Amino acid sequence: MASILVIAHRGASGERPEHTIESYRLAIAEGADYIEPDLVMTRDGVLIARHENEISGTTDVAQHAEFAARRRTQTIDGETMTGWFTEDFTLAEIKTLRARERLPELRPQNCVFDGQFLIPTFDEIMQLAVESNRGRGGAARIGVYPETKHPAHFTGIGLPLEQAVLDTLRRHGYDAAGSPVFIQSFDPRNLRELRGQTKLPLIQLLEHELGDLAEIAKYADGVGIAKALATPSGVRAAHAVNLKVHVWTFRAENEFLPDDLKIGAAPAAHGDLDGEIRRFLDRGIDGMFVDFPAVGVRVRDAYRVAHVSTAPTA
Ligand code: G3P
Ligand code: CA
Repeated sequence: MASILVIAHRGASGERPEHTIESYRLAIAEGADYIEPDLVMTRDGVLIARHENEISGTTDVAQHAEFAARRRTQTIDGETMTGWFTEDFTLAEIKTLRARERLPELRPQNCVFDGQFLIPTFDEIMQLAVESNRGRGGAARIGVYPETKHPAHFTGIGLPLEQAVLDTLRRHGYDAAGSPVFIQSFDPRNLRELRGQTKLPLIQLLEHELGDLAEIAKYADGVGIAKALATPSGVRAAHAVNLKVHVWTFRAENEFLPDDLKIGAAPAAHGDLDGEIRRFLDRGIDGMFVDFPAVGVRVRDAYRVAHVSTAPTA
C-alpha cells in the first residue's frame, strides 16, 4: 500500500493557535509527514503564515491602538472584508502582534495560548523544518505544503507571492526534485504560472466541484479537495488521470463531523474522527489535511497494518 500522507493543517491547529511555530512544532512531534503553511505577504515583501491577509480573527491587532487607523474595507477575490490587512504592515509591525485562537467557542483549551505566540515568517517555518530534520535520524525529511493565498490580489498590489515562495524553498534546500514539497492554490492561473517556474509538485485546490480533471492534470500533480468531493467515484476519476487526491479538512469536533459520527450533542466535544478518517482511507485517498495530526498518524498507521496483514497472498 502506498504511503498515505498526514498533512498537519495549519500545524496541529486543533491543539494550538493555527499557523504558529508552536503549532507546526507540535505537528512535527506528533509524526505528521507535512506541515501546511498558508502564505500571505507584508508591505515590505515578507511571506508570513496566515490563513488570510485580514488578520483580526487570528491576531490581537484590534487591541493595538497604534494600528486603529489601519482598519479598512476592501474587496478581495470578490469578497468584501473589513479589518486589518497584512499588506498594510511591515514585518517589524507584524512581529509586535500575537496569535489568537480562531475558534474560541470550539477550542477553548487553545485560548490559554492567546497572546503568547508570534506570527511566523515562511523563512522561520523552513528553519524549523530544517532543524527538525536533524533529529529525525534516517526518517524522511519533514515535508512542507505551502499554499499561496489570494495570489492575484497580491500580484495586483505589487507583492507577488510565487517567486518568494520558490526562493525560500531553495534557500532551505527544498527545491530539488524529490524534495518533500507540494505547492497548493485554489487559483489555476497561479498554478499554471508556477508550472513554468518549478518542477516541484503542484496541487489544485477544489471546493465545490471537481471540474475538468484531465485539464488540471496538464499542470498539476494532484488535487486537494473538500471532503464532499471525495466520493469513491470522485477519487477514482482523479486517479484515472494520474492526479493524487489529498482531502481536507479532518477535524475532531462534532461541529465538523457527520451526524452518525458525533458523540454527544456539544459542538465542541470530540466525536469519532477515527471513523471518519477510515471512511476516506477506504476510498483510496492519498493524503489528508488534519487539524489533529496525532489522530491522523495513529489511524493511518493502524489502517496500513490491518490492510497489509489482511492482504491476500499469492
Ligand atoms: O489547503 C487545504 C485546505 O487548507 C484549504 O482550505 O481554507 O483551510 O486553506 P483552507
Ligand atoms: Ca490551506
